[in-house]
Amino acid sequence: MLIIFIGPPGSGKGTQAERLCQRLGITHLSTGDMLRAAIAAETALGLEAADYIQRGELVPDQLVVEMVGQVLDQPPSANGCLLDGFPRSLPQAEALDRLLESQQAGITRVLELEVDQPELIERLLARQRTDDTLETIENRLQVFQNQTSPLLDYYRQRGLLATVSGSGTVEQVEDRIQAALPGQQNDDQD
Ligand code: AP5
Ligand code: MG
Repeated sequence: MLIIFIGPPGSGKGTQAERLCQRLGITHLSTGDMLRAAIAAETALGLEAADYIQRGELVPDQLVVEMVGQVLDQPPSANGCLLDGFPRSLPQAEALDRLLESQQAGITRVLELEVDQPELIERLLARQRTDDTLETIENRLQVFQNQTSPLLDYYRQRGLLATVSGSGTVEQVEDRIQAALPGQQNDDQD
């Protein structure tokens, strides 16, 4: 099983990924968390990524694809995994397709989390991660619009996309996500 979460900064990808992964017994792979761990460990990747993250720009595709490829090469768990924040650009999505093709694996479902912009900004300013300054948040939102949102059509055309509202309580969003996954009663594809 391979589930992908796509959503703007603050839409709840990390929060919901943790819950879903625990429930399904699959591995949570957050490229943001992996990059922050690399920064904390002062690896070559971390040193290269730090400025991009601080500005709210995407870390170059090649670096991120290599990082994810290394993990997916050694299957993280028998049940599968959830990609949180990857892919985030068309070149990343195409690289993922090539990687999965070589492993004869497929994408189970792509889940889009939708939240209004004022609510996203409010949530992120309340959290105060180092890239949660107003200037960087605004850039992250713009980057999502320009570089990541085209992926929604990419996956919609392949019948893989389900869009759920990320507003409301964490539990309400969790229920909507459950209903949008294959094998659930309410198995709408979009
Ligand atoms: P990343 O770490 O992925 O950050 P992001 O996409 O900006 O999203 P966040 O992690 O801020 O939000 P989230 O959607 O996970 O929401 P969360 O659950 O935390 O990426 C950071 C940077 O790394 C990028 O800018 C880029 O530089 C780089 N990067 C990462 N991946 C990359 C890639 N593939 N390619 C290139 N560069 C890459 O929730 C947010 C807050 O809201 C929390 O405080 C939470 O408690 C709260 N909250 C959650 N749900 C609710 C709810 N229902 N009601 C109220 N509050 C809620
Ligand atoms: Mg996150």
